[in-house]
Amino acid sequence: MSTGTRPDPTAVETVVCVGAGVIGGGWAAYFLAHGYDVVAWDPAPDAEGRLRHLVAQAWPALTELGLAEGAAQDRLTFEPDLAAACARADFVQESAPEDLELKRTLLADVDAATPEGVVVASSTSGYPMSDMQVRCATPGRTVVGHPFNPPYLIPLVEVVGGTATDPDAVTWASDFYRHVGKSVITMEREVPGFIANRLQEALWREALHMVAEGEATVEQIDLSITDGPGLRWPIQGPLLTFHLAGGQGGMAHMLDHFGPSLLAPWTRLDAPPLTPELRDAVVDGCERESGDRSIDDLVAERDRGVIAVLRALGRA
Ligand SMILES: NC(=O)c1ccc[n+]([C@@H]2O[C@H](COP(=O)([O-])OP(=O)(O)OC[C@H]3O[C@@H](n4cnc5c(N)ncnc54)[C@H](O)[C@@H]3O)[C@@H](O)[C@H]2O)c1
Repeated sequence: MSTGTRPDPTAVETVVCVGAGVIGGGWAAYFLAHGYDVVAWDPAPDAEGRLRHLVAQAWPALTELGLAEGAAQDRLTFEPDLAAACARADFVQESAPEDLELKRTLLADVDAATPEGVVVASSTSGYPMSDMQVRCATPGRTVVGHPFNPPYLIPLVEVVGGTATDPDAVTWASDFYRHVGKSVITMEREVPGFIANRLQEALWREALHMVAEGEATVEQIDLSITDGPGLRWPIQGPLLTFHLAGGQGGMAHMLDHFGPSLLAPWTRLDAPPLTPELRDAVVDGCERESGDRSIDDLVAERDRGVIAVLRALGRA
């Protein structure tokens, strides 16, 4: 692949979103708000309606943060043919279901239909690109561009290539995401779960253990983070937070003082069996905690809160 055929990251006009569920729709809303033309493809019969609902739902938050000149929801086209969609791409963001076989075949189809050199990014939550790009004819342009839900509000994208990825494609994708206002971590090596999901996974497993064993309710677990450590994390990450927990002695005192307690049996990092009882307990807990708030109500509440936090910290 000649890298010379790639558009300049600042000259992208059309973004193609392949897979238009929660994440693909969130990406579509983000790119539309930043003044791009967006072409979406998704094989589900109700996909276009779901996508347009999601974009409309995200629009008030995006409007509040400031739309780019010319940004409009009607610059979204739903294209029923994958190859026709990809043919229009200056950049492709794939957000299909997390299924390795599906992604391998889909990325090969996308690669075959996308103009030479155009970068193809996957939103995968954890598959290494090395495992997904195996059927692509030109795998050099494929990268992971891992977002966080909702991609139209959470700034972070983790970017990493696979063994067959051209390093220039990783640089291009990082530059492009930065150009559209994202906070980018470019990873030097593939790590299962990248950085943030590896950390989230630890929390998720421990929460499931506590529910399974009746040690804490869904509501108590959520409150323990929202009114506890979660308040510190947008300001200083977990390590700088602990640096301050060591007083004037900082992290050195923290490690010398609490390091030995890491051996105490607090955590159970093997995944708990996901029994039907555990599944129901977690689902029931979330429904109880939601009360009479619908998913749409919760999305609006979350969006207002994220914007308030970003504003309070001078990041929006
Ligand atoms: N939900 C999250 O919090 C989150 C966060 C970051 C990354 N991701 C990743 O984003 C990707 C999409 O996840 P999601 O949460 O949006 O799932 P989702 O179920 O909301 O959406 C998936 C979409 O893909 C469509 N689809 C089904 N078969 C397809 C195919 N063969 N080709 C293209 N599209 C197809 C479905 O119709 C659906 O609209 C996954 O790789 C996931 O790991 C999810």
